[in-house]
Amino acid sequence: MQKNLYERLGGYDPISAVVDDFMQRQFTDKQVGRFYVGHSTNSKKRLRQLITEMICEITGGPAKYVGRDMRTAHAGLGITGGDWEVTVKNLTASLDKFKVPQKEKDELLANVAGLRPVIVEL
Ligand code: HEM
Repeated sequence: MQKNLYERLGGYDPISAVVDDFMQRQFTDKQVGRFYVGHSTNSKKRLRQLITEMICEITGGPAKYVGRDMRTAHAGLGITGGDWEVTVKNLTASLDKFKVPQKEKDELLANVAGLRPVIVEL
């Protein structure tokens, strides 16, 4: 039987390493870094944790995402299509850094692409 995406990515630890690297890129990015200005170190860690759990859940892992739904969490931030592209680029760079194979990378990015309509406002 084919393993699910969570298992093929290596489970929780490799996923959390990718998300940690991805969020560092987001926080320091010259275009999208502005969204995280004024967030404490602890708030950023909380965000990283929620994103890790969410990715574990959507890839078929046992973790339960307990954060807000994606529309509610992003409503009013005014995220543009350009911000979305930068975010996908940063996530792709992190997946490449950890040498996630093409097939798993494509599957994860396709999954994430489904969130675009509820996150992008402008
Ligand atoms: C790749 C797709 C994305 C995913 C999987 C994602 C996931 C999440 C999650 C799980 C949360 C936490 C929800 C909660 O606090 O309950 C969140 C919040 C947030 N996201 Fe995203 N997000 C994505 C795209 C973006 C983009 C494109 C931006 C802006 C560049 C962004 C900016 C934010 C900010 C600023 C918050 C904190 C909102 C607040 O606490 O008021 N996100 N996101």
